[in-house]
Amino acid sequence: MGMLIKSGHVVDPANGLDGIYDILIEGVVIKEVAPSIDSIGMEEVDAGGLHVFPGFFDAHCHLREPGYEYKEDIESGTKAAAAGGFTSVACMPNTNPVADNDSVIRLILDRASEKGCVKVYPIGSITKGSEGTRLAEMGFMKQAGAVAVSDDGKPVESADIMKKALEYASGFGLPVISHCEEMSLSEGGAMNDGFVSTSLGLKGIPAAAEEIQVARDVLLSECTGVPVHIAHISTGGSAGIIRAAKARGVRVTCETCPHYFSLTEDECEGFNPYAKVNPPLRNEKDRLAVIEALRDGTVDFIATDHAPHHEDEKNVEFQFAANGISGFETAFSAAYTNLVMTGAISLGRLVDLMSRLPARFLNRYTGGLRPGAPADLTIADLSAAITVDSSKFLSKGRNTPFNGKQLHGRILMTIVNGGTAYRRDK
Ligand code: DOR
Ligand code: ZN
Repeated sequence: MGMLIKSGHVVDPANGLDGIYDILIEGVVIKEVAPSIDSIGMEEVDAGGLHVFPGFFDAHCHLREPGYEYKEDIESGTKAAAAGGFTSVACMPNTNPVADNDSVIRLILDRASEKGCVKVYPIGSITKGSEGTRLAEMGFMKQAGAVAVSDDGKPVESADIMKKALEYASGFGLPVISHCEEMSLSEGGAMNDGFVSTSLGLKGIPAAAEEIQVARDVLLSECTGVPVHIAHISTGGSAGIIRAAKARGVRVTCETCPHYFSLTEDECEGFNPYAKVNPPLRNEKDRLAVIEALRDGTVDFIATDHAPHHEDEKNVEFQFAANGISGFETAFSAAYTNLVMTGAISLGRLVDLMSRLPARFLNRYTGGLRPGAPADLTIADLSAAITVDSSKFLSKGRNTPFNGKQLHGRILMTIVNGGTAYRRDK
């Protein structure tokens, strides 16, 4: 079994590739990357006029299984991921039951091997039930296959528990991913605190609710010497704290998501519940500061925070709507449109931010597009203009503020371990 991808514009900065190449896949691995490879009767994919990238790696998503299969399951979630160009995803533990022990981690991996069309890496919780009080059994979860720990969706409110979590997780080599939210400030808030929240009469969540916790975790990392990773940063203030911490040698890393560098609180106008997400969409100054942080390396990678919800949980009064955006199927287009087409970052940097860098963070980087590496890659048409139509999503979650918006760059094909995980119908 083999596949020959012909004449694509291959972009993989880690391997010094930015030009027209053929890629030969044999079995599950890349056999050869060269300006011209002769076909010897295998399946051929004509990538002329298209771009070929190492498969994207999403280090932060919600697949909702077990427990919330009505929102998403591993089958629908990984199909949606493949449609977004992702060949690997790491899923958060806020399932039901919470992935706070080795059996749930094993269940997720079993389901993924039966039903998943991309690689799935489960993240275990930091505390039992993500309740913030007792540490979860990280060693057993690691043995079962967990790649990191997080109480994402909720902060670890006690600084003492967070400090102990960092120390405990470091013993197992598990990265700790922190959802930064100071609850006394965010409680009851529905969107960013600012002009729009005031005009809508909604209680706002101030930037400080995120930044106080970012500062706390930076200090905990500094005093323990243990790395900490900050999930979904949304404000210029968070970027500033992390930039300064990195400059003095603190082992802090962070991610942001496409909605934070593409959209603002203005999307909430008219009480649009599809724009409700936690942390909330911020203001234009924050959006530009997040882009600057992606440009200068303060932000380590892009993650989707794909958070599918059922229509009945979203299409309700703003205050009662669930937080979250179904993100897999717009992530690349939003990033290409708002970061590369605007000239903020290069295409190569975007590819790195969506493939090598998140994979490396979770200790999963396998080499990108080079002989011997797993054949995980994605093919995109960067000339395509698209109007987002969430009714066509492969995700069960159609909740997106990008619906109806114009973006550029379309994923056409995603290959995982040499097999076709997604191919767009003509
Ligand atoms: O908007 C969000 N949705 N933020 C989170 O932190 C959790 C997520 C979810 O699980 O729906
Ligand atoms: Zn999340």
